[in-house]
Amino acid sequence: AVAQLTLDPAFRIAPVDPRLFGSFVEHMGRCVYTGIFEPGHPSADDDGLRQDVLDLVRELGVTTVRYPGGNFVSNYRWEDGVGPRGDRPRRLDLAWRSLESNAFGLNEFMRWASLAGVEPMMAVNLGTRGIEAAAELVEYCNLADGTAAADLRRKHGVAQPHDVRMWCLGNEMDGPWQIGSLTAEEYGRLATRAGHAMRRVDPTIELVACGSSNSDMPTFAAWEATVLEHAYDQVDYISLHTYYDPEKHDEASFRASAVDLDGFIENVISTADHVRAKLRRSKRIKLSLDEWNVWYQSRFTEPEDRDIEEIPALIEDDYNGTDAVVVGNLLISMLRHADRLTVGCQAQLVNVIAPIRTRAGGEAWRQTIFHPFAHTARLARGTVLRPALTSPSMSTGRFGDVPAVDAVATHDEQTGRLSVFVVNRGTEPVPLTVDLRAFPRHRLTQHLALTSDRPEPVEQAPAEEILLPPVSWHVLCLTPEESR
Ligand code: AHR
Repeated sequence: AVAQLTLDPAFRIAPVDPRLFGSFVEHMGRCVYTGIFEPGHPSADDDGLRQDVLDLVRELGVTTVRYPGGNFVSNYRWEDGVGPRGDRPRRLDLAWRSLESNAFGLNEFMRWASLAGVEPMMAVNLGTRGIEAAAELVEYCNLADGTAAADLRRKHGVAQPHDVRMWCLGNEMDGPWQIGSLTAEEYGRLATRAGHAMRRVDPTIELVACGSSNSDMPTFAAWEATVLEHAYDQVDYISLHTYYDPEKHDEASFRASAVDLDGFIENVISTADHVRAKLRRSKRIKLSLDEWNVWYQSRFTEPEDRDIEEIPALIEDDYNGTDAVVVGNLLISMLRHADRLTVGCQAQLVNVIAPIRTRAGGEAWRQTIFHPFAHTARLARGTVLRPALTSPSMSTGRFGDVPAVDAVATHDEQTGRLSVFVVNRGTEPVPLTVDLRAFPRHRLTQHLALTSDRPEPVEQAPAEEILLPPVSWHVLCLTPEESR
């Protein structure tokens, strides 16, 4: 059985939006404290920002980072984290039952984001707080001066506004675990009214409404429909969250997790477009996959069953090669939907189900899932192309028979480079042929591959015959003769 893919510039999906390669920093576990921020660490700067972690974040190629939660945001008072450190309160965070020192807050995050070269994406608390706190936070971040909140920021030593573009209206508000969870009706109304006030402060911001916490929620799709019936005119995006647990289903189904992500994305698009038809609107709602990853969630201990701690080590999953192949495939699925899905945030960035891990006082290192993310973020440029693909199939417990090989391509019109992202999620090797009839001058110049048993990507010698080993992820770079 062989796979064949045909590339043509006419099979265009959409431009690659850099925001697809986002990540997420939550005040959870050791993502912030001893993750990105650790005063006294040998690599920390005068503000306590770990430079070893910043170097890895830049290497990962992250473009935008969502902050400060997550479940954490739904009981967070943003005012606690600004102003003189000595005056900041120590609080019990109810989301994770952790002690929060507030030594790190909004302005520290913005400084970190500028050093990391990433766009900040903020979430507001619609759990224990509401319209007023959300509007004042936009004022604190985005107005230059002359109002109470903008002048407070200036008093805190930050003269220039942070100019935050993307704002999440709460987090997972359908989840019973969420502090202050709401019904779809309640949330739809609140998100609309909060968004309205926030846009009165800064009409240029982009707003993300909470979709379902995951597609297994009993209210999935009905939640999106109801929320959008209220908020359609106010918001630009609906969020999607999804985590794939290697231990929840049969192994083949885990390897084929991107089949589930494809279906999830397409169902949210259908639901948003149903509301568009019902309301007779012309605007289309975009999708923000602002939490996604592999997570060994069945090993998770609920907050109620844990003691209260400061900086606990929470969900510090160790990833293997198969997890990296799945992450590579999830990125393929995201690119394939780039016409509607324009924001993606892998959750989370450091220590908490993360591509980057650290030891307090010690080193920082890359996990296996770092590699497919870093290469895709670096090499997916220009326009996403849909390859015509034939593939042998593999059987899975959850999805029945699915193609073993999956792929997507990007075409950088500036350099001419084609990058083809390919995965073999089956357990048999598959020879691959690439039909370049529409790119007659292109040749394979680089082939990067990682496999489940060798998760560090290695360069393969570019060959006429490409063999995709079992459970493997690849990038094929093809360049036109004249540019070599
Ligand atoms: O990323 C970990 C948690 O998963 C987030 O806080 C929450 O939004 C999701 O349920």
